[in-house]
Amino acid sequence: MKALVIGSGGREHAIAWRLAQEPGVHVVAAPGNPGMVDLGPCLRPPSNTPEGYLQLALEHEVDLTIVGPEAPLVAGVVDTFVAAGQKIAGPTRAAAQLEASKQFAKQVMIGAHIPTAAYQAATSIAEARHALRNFSYPVVLKADGLAAGKGVIIAHNETEAHQALEALQILGPKILIEEFLQGEEASFIALCDGKRAIALEASQDHKTIFNGDEGPNTGGMGAYCDGRILTPAQIRAVLDTVIQPALDYMRHLGTPFSGFLYAGLMMTREGAKVLEFNVRLGDPETQSLLHRIRGGFAESLMAAASGDLSQAVFDWNPNPSVCVVMAAAGYPEKPRTGDAINGITEAESTGAVVFQAGTHLDNGTLRTSGGRVLGVTASGADLSSAIGNTYEAARRIHFDGMQFRTDIGAKGLKRWSTIRTVGT
Ligand code: AMP
Ligand code: GLY
Repeated sequence: MKALVIGSGGREHAIAWRLAQEPGVHVVAAPGNPGMVDLGPCLRPPSNTPEGYLQLALEHEVDLTIVGPEAPLVAGVVDTFVAAGQKIAGPTRAAAQLEASKQFAKQVMIGAHIPTAAYQAATSIAEARHALRNFSYPVVLKADGLAAGKGVIIAHNETEAHQALEALQILGPKILIEEFLQGEEASFIALCDGKRAIALEASQDHKTIFNGDEGPNTGGMGAYCDGRILTPAQIRAVLDTVIQPALDYMRHLGTPFSGFLYAGLMMTREGAKVLEFNVRLGDPETQSLLHRIRGGFAESLMAAASGDLSQAVFDWNPNPSVCVVMAAAGYPEKPRTGDAINGITEAESTGAVVFQAGTHLDNGTLRTSGGRVLGVTASGADLSSAIGNTYEAARRIHFDGMQFRTDIGAKGLKRWSTIRTVGT
């Protein structure tokens, strides 16, 4: 099978890396990144449009296309491929509105009775200020459209809320005001075929730039995947109260959902509540998830694209995994580019995998070219060793101004050590 991976980030590198290990799968990427060239050809589409990707897939006789980021999905790449009879894993443009519009996502959650935070939508600052009176602090303010994880502000008082509204207006006129939910966050991703879903293991992202969940939000500074993040009963509950109702409701709207449905969850005292839907795999969750998948990935993607997941299964390695993102100087505000990157071979000699994201080759020198530069990923017999193995590899990498959190996975360690103490 020839598989085309659309995208150029760490998530896409991880998808290509996993696919390349599956029997009989040949990978091509568009556009890919310098880390992916060893896995298969990285090709430039004639244009970054659905038609451009289709032309490339036809020219290279691709059997299955997998879309990493949300933008091509929202632009309708799945619709274009399906109309041309090409197999592609992902939601249509209409179904991708679950991520493209937070308001649409909320309407689906309300319509499908999916547990979520109370909210109000506003179309002007004046309306938003008025709506704020119905909420207590802290309150959550969100821009409606795509904002690469940066369109959410938590305001602790009225002054902060008014400042946040001004800042969010720059991203667009529609703003959502949301009840603040308390609990532990989890990323829950399921592969869907329009009717049914199979769950991936749960993972946990680390959204802020600094240790201890301090500082501004980023696209994600690291993730870990450990079978204990959600209990089997919690996984069942999320499938029954979130994923299946969302699929049923999307079908009822006439826009069935296939591809990866990502529910950003808050595990509150009343159970799991949805913070957001994404219509793709998470980044950097994917790097840690795919490090643990041993088989069945390509077949399951083909099954989803063919509308029948009834026989699909993922084979999981039980060992927990961790991905630490190494980001450029100035990230997330204004990432600096052009810094030379050293030590990837040394890092990988420990057994870790270094997924590339914001990198480019400049006359044989690998340099930074974006905010999130690398995702160092490793597993271990338990979470503590997975963390140790990942940081052991990360320590061997250097580029000027690099930033990385040193507490990825620490929340899990703390939680489970407390549970053990309480239980003994
Ligand atoms: P989102 O893009 O909607 O997932 O929001 C980004 C981050 O903001 C989430 O991962 C949470 O940490 C935080 N957040 C969003 N909505 C809420 C909420 N209603 N209550 C508490 N935190 C939230
Ligand atoms: N890591 C969060 C996301 O991919 O949206």
